[in-house]
Amino acid sequence: MTPAPRCVNVAVVAAAHRPDPELMSGPVDDHLVVFTPSGHRGHVPDDTTVLDAARRLGVDLDSVCGGRGICGRCQVEPTFGEFAKHNIAASGEHISPRGPVENDYRGRRPLLGDLRLGCSARIRGDLVIDVPATSQVHRQVIRKEVDLGDVQLDPVLVLRLVEVPDERGRPAKWLTDSLAGQWGLTDVEVESRAGEELGQVVAAGVETVTVAIRDGTRVVAVWGGLRDRALGVAVDVGSTTIAGHLCDLATGEVLATGGTMNPQIRFGEDLMSRVSYVMMNPGGEVELTSAVRDALNSLLEDLCRSGGASREELLELVLVGNPIMHHLFLGYDPTPLGTAPFTLATGEAIDLPASDLDLETHPAARAHVLPCIAGHVGADTAAVILATRPQERAGVQLVVDVGTNAEIVLSGNGRVLAASSPTGPAFEGAQVSSGQRATPGAIERVRIDTETGEPRFRVIGSEIWSDEPGFDDAVAETGITGICGSGIIEVVAELWLAGLMDSDGVIGGAGTRTSPRIVADGRTYSYVLHDPGTHDGHQILVTQNDIRAIQLAKAALYAGVRLLMDHLGVDQVDQIGLAGAFGSHIDTVRATVLGLIPDCDPDRVASVGNAAGAGAAMALLSGTARVEIQDSVRRIEKVETALEPSFQEHFVDAMAIPHRTADYPGLSTRIELPPRTGPSTGGGRRERRRRTPTQSEDQQ
Ligand code: FES
Repeated sequence: MTPAPRCVNVAVVAAAHRPDPELMSGPVDDHLVVFTPSGHRGHVPDDTTVLDAARRLGVDLDSVCGGRGICGRCQVEPTFGEFAKHNIAASGEHISPRGPVENDYRGRRPLLGDLRLGCSARIRGDLVIDVPATSQVHRQVIRKEVDLGDVQLDPVLVLRLVEVPDERGRPAKWLTDSLAGQWGLTDVEVESRAGEELGQVVAAGVETVTVAIRDGTRVVAVWGGLRDRALGVAVDVGSTTIAGHLCDLATGEVLATGGTMNPQIRFGEDLMSRVSYVMMNPGGEVELTSAVRDALNSLLEDLCRSGGASREELLELVLVGNPIMHHLFLGYDPTPLGTAPFTLATGEAIDLPASDLDLETHPAARAHVLPCIAGHVGADTAAVILATRPQERAGVQLVVDVGTNAEIVLSGNGRVLAASSPTGPAFEGAQVSSGQRATPGAIERVRIDTETGEPRFRVIGSEIWSDEPGFDDAVAETGITGICGSGIIEVVAELWLAGLMDSDGVIGGAGTRTSPRIVADGRTYSYVLHDPGTHDGHQILVTQNDIRAIQLAKAALYAGVRLLMDHLGVDQVDQIGLAGAFGSHIDTVRATVLGLIPDCDPDRVASVGNAAGAGAAMALLSGTARVEIQDSVRRIEKVETALEPSFQEHFVDAMAIPHRTADYPGLSTRIELPPRTGPSTGGGRRERRRRTPTQSEDQQ
């Protein structure tokens, strides 16, 4: 391999996006080069490398190895032919043929097709050169595994390769000099551990070292030779599950996504019961902190295994969570969050060594924790705001993340408000007689025939409805084991739509219809959703207590939303985003029928995916995003639902289905709503009616 000149300044053009005016025209023996898609153009001398030309013209072209032909980050594709628009006629002779550096290149990114190493290919004539997205430093990241919106890569940690000089004394001195000379990085300090690593690898006789530079100012790690990958993990620490994304910090590629149960569940199903555990058990906070940190380590291990990485490659972490999770994984006392005024230990973003959280990563790894918004609104909601940016959209925007606590964000009129509401674990299948988590075998979709009262349903793990051929075979392995949160919402909404339950949520209440599926259950009635008959399995009932649990949960969420609408001075929301795993799976029409969310044009109610995880990943990949969300959080108006007298009034009204008084004109455009019945709504017996299914009452 041909060694590159020692001090060729082929730095990544992170900040140099302005072309040199002198290059806009040049001597006749210079060559005109146009880079696409940026459109940067200018003249460069004959035999200039493409990477050097890119640097001169302010083109965003990546490099880790500094032009030594070993990292493969600088790949470009020269294009040939007549380009009238650019006044260029380019042929194959206008670029040097592949030489030994490119032929010998065996890096992580194969040199496919007509791609060339920009640091090796030399310009010999006028050219149009395409810089693929994968070779751009600040490219937009688009990954289907997690929706990262339009985040632009701006990693807080980068890798740079530096040659070791013949004179190896005072390593920190020549390293900083080389970083200035070879990479244009001035005012860089070498942290003490990195200095020791540098001394060791230089003593071992290496010719090059790779350094990790954080915030453009500090060398935090050193390896001998080329190291072309630094990884990070974004984690959403939920009270039920902990989910993470393993990402390449330089490319934004999501290498693995995974999750694990939060082992703190054994100390309490919901957040307040965990705080109670700490209050009643001296040292309980240490147990809870240790449990969640163990789970984080096990998640890191799983992510590395499935992403083909090692923990030693993990150099950056971003963590988000609700306030109690946030305090527990940081080792803060959560008890002030258990009672008014719900005081946070800190509402600022936190940046600390990952080792302080007992996380097993590279010793130089740091953990960044997004700021909490208020005592009941956490860093996970900050991440949701970062991912969804409701404040940047017109109209009144509502974003709801439903878990054991519902986090609510409402924006409009230039303001952003946030609150949380204690929905409890009913939507996750707890407190429901046949409830279960969303695992294979759980009923997730329900439709009830308005004429016969007969149900049909679908279970997780199969696309076949229970009244379709092949259903029994499809569920033979999993069985029909219970009903998960999305199924519960649908069955309660369908019971009301089918006239089997009144608007007060009473199965078989006044004015409702009869059905063989309605069975006496002590002093109340239950609905038989599934009866295995002679087959294996057990009956799945929806009991009156189940309905009550769902009413309490949905009323808490609606009341929180309504409270924020009061504070914002609006009666209508224009768009609703449902975040989180639960939000991704619920039928938005039936969620509105139930009164979980306020009325809205059904076409403007949609899942926004795992927004907390996406926001955490954005903060992992972009220092700019970290600054942006810190600024946003400072401006958010916090509303404490527990301290607001009108919350209770809204809660009582919201117990009815869909609501005691609120109209649902938007929902009525999609589905014909029955009259409200039951004492609280002033409704009485209603006519037996045939409902015409609309397109939204679909098979899905
Ligand atoms: S800059 Fe590393 S291979 Fe070209």
